[in-house]
Amino acid sequence: MLEKFGRNLPCWCGSGRKYKACHMAFDERIAQARAAGHIVPGHKLIKNDAQIAKIRESCVVNMAALDAVAAAIRPGMTTKEIDDIVYGTTTAMGGIPAPLNYHGFPYSVCTSVNEQVCHGFPSDQVVLKEGDIINVDCSTILDGYFSDSSRMFCIGEVSPEKKRLVEVTKECVELGLEQVKPWGFLGDVGQAVHDHARANGYSVVPDIGGHGVGLEFHEDPFVSYVTRRGEEMLLAPGMIFTIEPMVNMGGAAHVTNRANGWEISTRDGLPSAQWEIMVLVTEEGHEVLCW
Ligand code: MF3
Ligand code: CO
Repeated sequence: MLEKFGRNLPCWCGSGRKYKACHMAFDERIAQARAAGHIVPGHKLIKNDAQIAKIRESCVVNMAALDAVAAAIRPGMTTKEIDDIVYGTTTAMGGIPAPLNYHGFPYSVCTSVNEQVCHGFPSDQVVLKEGDIINVDCSTILDGYFSDSSRMFCIGEVSPEKKRLVEVTKECVELGLEQVKPWGFLGDVGQAVHDHARANGYSVVPDIGGHGVGLEFHEDPFVSYVTRRGEEMLLAPGMIFTIEPMVNMGGAAHVTNRANGWEISTRDGLPSAQWEIMVLVTEEGHEVLCW
């Protein structure tokens, strides 16, 4: 079967190298895993070095936009000002904010405050005040390549309970990241995230999660954080996906704003936090591309 690719013909990944010296052993390993019943990544989820280099450039812009927000964010600022900063920084660097007009999303960034879980609309009516926590979720298209990451910000003095939620959620991402290695499983990441959140008395939103990213905004696989070790998709070098759990202080249930169909908040009104990083699976382990 493998012969049909031609051992001496160029590899499917676009590297320009011969198949036998590039992804032939990789394909054999994938075939074994599939035969053993695992979910395996298709070729289109495997990025080559040239693509990774372009995605990296997109990540530089995305992080610059978040850095600009970090430098400016303060009590009294509106979330619309955050939108302006992200739009201005991204476009000045030659990028396009990926959320803008994405399935009709009307802003350049998602700003989700306190009980908002995700997809919050920037607004000149939302003034950040001392004690708020906010997720700023930034995504960039540069030369057609996508990046996506988000950070939490504490506005002034925040209650110890909210501060702990923000810190534990970051730890969840770090613990998930530690699990990312070639020939591991996406479920290893999910279980590490879930275990840490639950050990701290929090819940993880089960039905909104991470995703492959790079050549498109949202690619396969869907990355859930309530999955189990040894399950879900096999991880292979060249895959890029986000780790972005939404961790709630109370219950996992959430409601969608019916007026705009986008903004998602916790049903119980308790705070929610999220951090998002973009990670590349490498031959040796992993590399964080965007945070
Ligand atoms: N940045 C979000 C994510 O992490 C996507 C938001 S879709 C948007 O996947 F349209 F709201 F931007
Ligand atoms: Co994302």
